[in-house]
Amino acid sequence: MSTVDSQKRVLSGMRPTGKLHLGHLHGVLKNWVKLQHEYECFFFVADWHALTTHYGEQNLFDENVLEMVIDWLAVGVNPGSAALFVQSRIPEHAELHLLLSMTTPVSWLERVPSYKDQQEKLQERELDTYGFLGYPLLQAADILIYRAGFVPVGADQVAHVELTREVARRFNHIYGKEPGFEDNAEAAIKKMGKKAAKLYSELRKAFQEQGDHAALEKARALLREQQNISIGDRERLFGYLEGGGKMILAEPQSLLTPASKMPGLDGQKMSKSYDNTISLREDLEQVSKKISTMPTDPARVRLSDPGNPEKCPVWQLHQTYSDESTREWVVEGCKSAGIGCLECKKPVIDAVVAELEPIQGEAAQYEKDRDLVRSILVEGSEKARETAKETLAEVRSAMGLGSW
Ligand code: TRP
Ligand code: SF4
Repeated sequence: MSTVDSQKRVLSGMRPTGKLHLGHLHGVLKNWVKLQHEYECFFFVADWHALTTHYGEQNLFDENVLEMVIDWLAVGVNPGSAALFVQSRIPEHAELHLLLSMTTPVSWLERVPSYKDQQEKLQERELDTYGFLGYPLLQAADILIYRAGFVPVGADQVAHVELTREVARRFNHIYGKEPGFEDNAEAAIKKMGKKAAKLYSELRKAFQEQGDHAALEKARALLREQQNISIGDRERLFGYLEGGGKMILAEPQSLLTPASKMPGLDGQKMSKSYDNTISLREDLEQVSKKISTMPTDPARVRLSDPGNPEKCPVWQLHQTYSDESTREWVVEGCKSAGIGCLECKKPVIDAVVAELEPIQGEAAQYEKDRDLVRSILVEGSEKARETAKETLAEVRSAMGLGSW
């Protein structure tokens, strides 16, 4: 598939952290499940990325990879719609990373905000490594190898997608200039037929002379519709719109995943490192107990003491799980001391249990049949690899490595 067609492709990766929790479900996973219906999706386990910070912990991986993928499947990520795979099984990511390292200035990597942040945060680890510095470039390779148009990420990862765009732009600038590019592009225009050719030239002019972005988008749409030009010509014409040269690597956009509103049991963000999670496969009795013992507004010492939902983490759970009338009941009952906290928690407990029950049923099936999970990953790898190989072949040839 050409750069142009692949712009509706979505790619995202997740580090193998093992079993996932409600924060993941309401942040990342529900979003993936939705995206898989709208786009061609590639979702992968970023095990090499985990290695950049957790090298030396070899027992972390095998188990965590499978457990995490079981959770993906259990919540409805569908291997029929999305290719699911493990990064380290696709060596093409590594080759592209290496090749891109030739054209990427070290200062670009040092400037990535997560570089210094994480080094400071993870003081107990030695992160003065080559791999850790290069990690955003590895991420760029992950994305560019599939020519993905969209990358769903959290706010902390937006800078990495931005870097990816710069890396692609620089690569295209250096290697997209084939001899006779302009002549080839003009010849390609003619191949589209009179009407489309005229329209393309007008739109290109409007963009180049007046910076008309709507015209640029229209021209791109026009190229996507063309059936009778080759992949190479299409890439030429895509690149020719903006000047430059052939567009070998496609610049992706981030699709910002709204931060999950799911609070942890203590009202902070739900996170393993705060020990405040409800995992997706947590025993349901335990779930009920955890919520029952959650802290509430400290003003409500006795049942007769009125409280304020704004000061209570349980209220945040109601915002995810309860309908409007239940929420009114909470506000009214809390402020007037008309309901007790345990009573108030009941609908949340019921809703969380109802949400987790079917997920756990699904997960149990996959737990019993880990070979099935493995074969899903093998199949996903095959699909991913096919695409990755195509891109890499073009990159190699553009860099002059392909044709002896
Ligand atoms: N860096 C991401 C994280 O730490 C994971 C990741 C790796 C990723 N490669 C990616 C996400 C490509 C999106 C696209 O969470
Ligand atoms: Fe929190 Fe509900 Fe208790 Fe109010 S009544 S403090 S909202 S648990």
